[in-house]
Amino acid sequence: MKKRIFSGVKPSGDLTLGNYIGAISNFVKLQNDYDCLFCVVDLHAITVPQDRVELNKRIKDIAALYIACGIDPNKAHIFIQSEVPGHTQLAWILECHTYIGELNRMTQFKDKAQKLGTEGLSSGLYTYPVLMAADILLYDADLVPVGEDQKQHVEITRDVAIRFNNRYGETFVVPEHFIPKVGARIMDLQEPTKKMSKSESDKGCILLLDEPQVIRKKIMSAVTDSETEIYYNPEKKPGISNLISIYAIITNKTIDEVVEEFKGSNYGTFKRAIADKLIEKIQPIQERFKEIRNSHELDVILDRGREYANNLANRKIEQVMQKVGLGRF
Ligand code: AMP
Ligand code: TRP
Repeated sequence: MKKRIFSGVKPSGDLTLGNYIGAISNFVKLQNDYDCLFCVVDLHAITVPQDRVELNKRIKDIAALYIACGIDPNKAHIFIQSEVPGHTQLAWILECHTYIGELNRMTQFKDKAQKLGTEGLSSGLYTYPVLMAADILLYDADLVPVGEDQKQHVEITRDVAIRFNNRYGETFVVPEHFIPKVGARIMDLQEPTKKMSKSESDKGCILLLDEPQVIRKKIMSAVTDSETEIYYNPEKKPGISNLISIYAIITNKTIDEVVEEFKGSNYGTFKRAIADKLIEKIQPIQERFKEIRNSHELDVILDRGREYANNLANRKIEQVMQKVGLGRF
């Protein structure tokens, strides 16, 4: 039997080049060898306030972009998290097996809390890693392809799974993360020591649905350094190294091959080449997106995904309830 993959993207903003390189491009590569579930994790989006119309639009945007980026709905299952009640059911049970101390160590929450204080943050944002654990454990996923920022959340998932298995007997598969060697952390083009993020920036963040001329402008104005030579050293040359990673991924080359290709070139030439390749990559994605976004086909795919996911989820929830002693059995 094929091993299983689960991963998800939050519909809390427009998809970025970071999402594509760190996550979705790997989903596409892995879909041939694994039984894949790719989820639009809308329940995760409401950990911070969302506009309901905007949120609703983005849910289908992400689903359509999954397909436009190359996920084949005949190979992988695509569905919406909130359409499978098992996620929240399991999340509650797992919350009762997760320690406050563990959640206090989650760096993503700590960073937010440090910036904004905890008083006005939702408790959902605090317990969000447990919902993520539920997403993964509900389907007995073996592998979870994510960007670097999610590594700690996959680790807490493993800890909770192991704890549950020890207490109640083998119940969950203990998953591994799959973090790509190159591109696991695409940086902001204006502040290349910060992660490229849809919530943080504008000029420094390329969106998958940006117009080609906007993409070109963002790349051409990317912050670099005062040297002239193109080589890879993320500490010393964060801007150039980030651009090298982006180019490497979209052209399927290694870092060394890219450095060799642009030996002796100036930064302007390098940036123009990146912009050309990026646009070449993204334009067909945008065209496919337009075709599928409002199609009946998308709803059929999401209906099928919902059914498949609910089947697996319901079986798992039943098993978990029995182990814990909930309900009647
Ligand atoms: P999110 O948009 O936060 O739901 O993230 C969806 C996926 O994209 C996760 O696997 C993230 O780790 C990944 N991701 C988000 N931003 C980046 C980035 N700048 N570089 C690499 N991966 C990213
Ligand atoms: N927390 C992830 C993020 O912010 C999204 C996510 C939710 C996820 N559930 C998941 C990723 C399960 C992988 C597996 O990017």
